Amino acid sequence: MRIDIISAQPWLMESAFAHSILKRAQDKGLVEVHLHNLKEYGLGKHHQIDDYQFGGGAGMVMMVEPILNLIQDLQKERSYDELIYMTPDGDLFDQKTANQLSLKENILILCGHYKGVDQRIRDHIISREISIGSYVLSGGELAAAVVSDAIIRLVPGVLGDESSALSDSFQDDLLAPPVYTRPAEINGWKVPEILLGGNFPEIEAWREAKALEITQRKRPDLLKDDSL
Ligand code: 6GU
Repeated sequence: MRIDIISAQPWLMESAFAHSILKRAQDKGLVEVHLHNLKEYGLGKHHQIDDYQFGGGAGMVMMVEPILNLIQDLQKERSYDELIYMTPDGDLFDQKTANQLSLKENILILCGHYKGVDQRIRDHIISREISIGSYVLSGGELAAAVVSDAIIRLVPGVLGDESSALSDSFQDDLLAPPVYTRPAEINGWKVPEILLGGNFPEIEAWREAKALEITQRKRPDLLKDDSL
């Protein structure tokens, strides 16, 4: 899998990809992540990437040309399965979308900032618009890192324990059950007895029951719809 991310502030995402699981995924050759600085495609000697909006109003709008030129250069090398625009008015990101995207070969992500991009980019170039929640961020960069993380960890081989992505919260429409490690007791706080006994069918049943109970309490909406 290859993910290309276009941004006016690519450095905001550097650390997200430079450590831990996402770094290891790249080191293993399972995923390539390429950050592209839109400024390098800016117009004129000031490398302009945004301009005032037609019709007036506060806020700058990202221009068509720098984005189009950069995307067209990338498309000379490969075709993209998805061209994603990160925007607070996009479709809400969820595990189902992460699962779908994890099956793609080449993904391009465009990060918006200021007032966003010229609508013509959205109308003619973008295949999918994604938001990560009902709040406004200063730019799409952190959201792009969130989406990339959720996708990359699903790529086969990225997680050491293959089963652990499948047992994540949300993966089976349920939140994850509680987990414990040593010591078995501290400050009088005890690990549930059943986890110490080694009866794995019973432990599995307990975990399933807990997952259901927690989901009912915290996220009853997950049990109602089939969107995941
Ligand atoms: Cl993708 N971008 C911005 N700027 N704000 C957001 C978002 C994206 N998702 C939620 N809020």
